[in-house]
Amino acid sequence: MSASAKPSQATITIEGSNTTAVLPLLSGTLGPQVADIRKLQAQAGIFTFDPGYGETASCESKITYIDGDEGVLLYRGYPIAQLAEKSTFLEVAYLLMYGDLPNAAQFEEFNHGVTMHTMLHEQIRRFWEGFRRDAHPMAVLCGVVGAMSAFYPDSVNINDAREREISAFRLIAKIPTITAWAYKYSIGQPFMYPRNDLSYAENFLYMMNAVPAESYRKNPILERAMDRILILHADHEQNASTSTVRLAGSTGANPFACIAAGIAALWGPAHGGANEAVLKMLGEIGDKKNIPAFIAEVKDKSSHTKLMGFGHRVYKNFDPRAKIMQQTCYEVLGELGIKNDPLLDLAMELEKIALDDDYFVSRKLYPNVDFYSGIILKAMGFPTTMFTPLFALARTTGWISQWMEMIEDPQQRIGRPRQLYTGAPQRDYVAIAARA
Ligand code: SDX
Repeated sequence: MSASAKPSQATITIEGSNTTAVLPLLSGTLGPQVADIRKLQAQAGIFTFDPGYGETASCESKITYIDGDEGVLLYRGYPIAQLAEKSTFLEVAYLLMYGDLPNAAQFEEFNHGVTMHTMLHEQIRRFWEGFRRDAHPMAVLCGVVGAMSAFYPDSVNINDAREREISAFRLIAKIPTITAWAYKYSIGQPFMYPRNDLSYAENFLYMMNAVPAESYRKNPILERAMDRILILHADHEQNASTSTVRLAGSTGANPFACIAAGIAALWGPAHGGANEAVLKMLGEIGDKKNIPAFIAEVKDKSSHTKLMGFGHRVYKNFDPRAKIMQQTCYEVLGELGIKNDPLLDLAMELEKIALDDDYFVSRKLYPNVDFYSGIILKAMGFPTTMFTPLFALARTTGWISQWMEMIEDPQQRIGRPRQLYTGAPQRDYVAIAARA
């Protein structure tokens, strides 16, 4: 076989028997081949075992590509660094949904469509009254987004392409309003309605920071930083929350319920909750002199302490988003006139020490997207409880793009993993009087 030709199949032979399974090897545009195991049980009577699906391709997708060894992240083939520098979040949303960058007319129509859906049904406001003021905003996002199907029943038919598109517009357009209102409710300020004259990022900052008592002053520095942060968080192939959205969607659940499931999955500190956890970790470390003791605690497995913002299931090199986030950190702090941010200093020292320590290097643990994002968001005035909701705001675009791709995939079927059963063998019921 020539070096360029790829093998077309793999064979599994069961030891001690003449059972053989021939597995087709499928090739993508980029990345490793995959063994198609859909006939494995029929041919060899076995399943595969992959807790956490670390080595399992759950679907075919054209949206995002990650090379974890090379630190590569592409949205529809475009490198994340180019999009972060040259594009806007709404243009990236179009790219993720439709597969190509829009021309001027296509962008204008898309932008108009999103703008026309930013307001919420007025009765949804009453949902907030049911929450305590100190409710975590992710609880609000889960609840309100999950309930949206009750207010927008004209866009829940998943078999209608136009209804699918309308639900996508509604989710992308309304998630900033819901997120900003979750914040306003937590601080007891009145909700600010979206404005059609502002960009997507600026509209969100307006709803977060404006008050009825005075006119709002736009801040182009924060607008650009916000837009870039949203781009960096928009999609990331089949991560835990996206896989949750796809699994929920595979049952035929409506898109609002699927995105609410994704929000719930993202909330975990091992996933989207890590940005909030990084700030908490830096706060607990407090001072550079405490870093060695903290690192020792992380290395002591019995402590169950993790270096939050480090490590990644796929990236075994730098997360390209972390580098852009670090650069944005400098820009935002500089432009805000924050000369030396103690949190950034502490984070930089922690990163330096970790990257010099074989415990982390040998385990290929590098900073991920969450390591710096919290520092920027704090400098921009966001409370830590709003960090993960911001992640959910951006990732809603990726989730809904992946959901649309899944619904339109002819190979798609209901997700139903199997298991390795290690419980009790079959046994008969014993009356309570006869039990020991
Ligand atoms: C996101 O999947 C995505 O794409 C997610 C995401 C996205 O955009 O959707 O990129 C967003 O979730 C980023 C990750 C944010 N989470 C954190 O920063 C939390 C801290 N990180 C870890 O919890 C962990 O690294 C995970 C959850 C991210 C990855 O977990 P894995 O794949 O189980 O880790 P691993 O198998 O690579 O771990 C290898 C070793 C293990 O030690 P040993 O058993 O070999 O001795 O490294 C250790 C782990 O215990 N390890 C860590 C560590 N992460 C892994 N040790 C200390 N600190 C850490 N952060």
